[in-house]
Amino acid sequence: MTRLQRGIRRGAALGVLALALAVEGSRLDAGDSGAPVSPPVTPESIRAGEAVFFEYCSGCHGRRADGRGPESLNLDPKPQNLRNAQFVKHLSDERIYTSLSGGVRGTAMPAWELALSAERRWNVIHYIRSLTADDTIALPNGIARQAVDPGMKNPLPVDEQSAAAGRKIFLSYCASCHGQKADGRGILAPNLIPAPRNLVAITSWGEKPFIEYLADARVYDSVTNGVPGTSMQPWIGVLDDVQRWQAVCFLRFEGDREKKARSGEPAGTN
Ligand code: HEC
Ligand code: HEC
Repeated sequence: MTRLQRGIRRGAALGVLALALAVEGSRLDAGDSGAPVSPPVTPESIRAGEAVFFEYCSGCHGRRADGRGPESLNLDPKPQNLRNAQFVKHLSDERIYTSLSGGVRGTAMPAWELALSAERRWNVIHYIRSLTADDTIALPNGIARQAVDPGMKNPLPVDEQSAAAGRKIFLSYCASCHGQKADGRGILAPNLIPAPRNLVAITSWGEKPFIEYLADARVYDSVTNGVPGTSMQPWIGVLDDVQRWQAVCFLRFEGDREKKARSGEPAGTN
């Protein structure tokens, strides 16, 4: 464990204490549908969020929120640049709230659920949104986004066959960035900011491959519509629906193999 990770664990332990003191904000956690709903944005909430940001977030994300805080030098993947308007605007309130509350598993982004009340988490979201509020963004090449149902499931079985078909697609279209092993080390990777995602290799930040933390709908959305503000392009006009799911099958299969290799089990036995 690095010093930073130990620090974060210690921070989480202190957070348990904070929880007892911070119940005041918990009623803001969920709307009627169960999905988190933002309270109204006010100049006060933005100012309060700015203070939270400087205290808890700027060490990694930087005082300007551009991803270049002092801790960022040691991190892989790097903290997101929260002034990247395309990227921030494509994130729903629910996604940001969930990432803040539970962290981004498999990366250094900590969970803030225990350390920050729901009210303070919303305040910092209001602050983050205020940084790019005036930026107008152009969507890439006029490609229409495909709406993705959050409950969507992979229609294909993850097995040798779908993974073999997906591997061919991955090697042709994805490996230049993500690497042949989907570990984020493709030949183009050193030139890209943010770096292509390590999708499969287990790092010190997670017990599982990154891909395993993502629901089918999230992976499908990113592969179909791309990740705006990064070099991850939409693949909807390039690969058909079955091919995109096959690529997902390949990633899930490799992720499973990686996990089993770690625990000494043979691959492909579930
Ligand atoms: C220990 C370093 C660290 C700290 C402290 C930290 N972050 Fe992060 N944050 C990260 C990293 C690393 C990522 C990139 C994760 C990835 O690659 O998806 C990230 C990602 C994010 C994202 C994007 C989430 C998504 O769904 O893609 C948001 C928003 C964010 N951080 C906000 C915050 C806020 C607000 C705070 C303070 C309350 C904070 N971060 C504190 C390291 C940190
Ligand atoms: C030009 C480089 C590039 C290519 C080619 C590329 N990607 Fe990506 N991909 C990225 C980057 C950069 C990110 C990370 C974005 C971020 O920081 O959130 C990413 C992220 C992802 C993610 C995670 C998305 C999420 O929701 O967090 C998946 C899954 C993925 N890519 C799959 C693929 C697949 C499958 C292909 C081929 C069909 C592909 N990528 C081709 C650059 C690329």
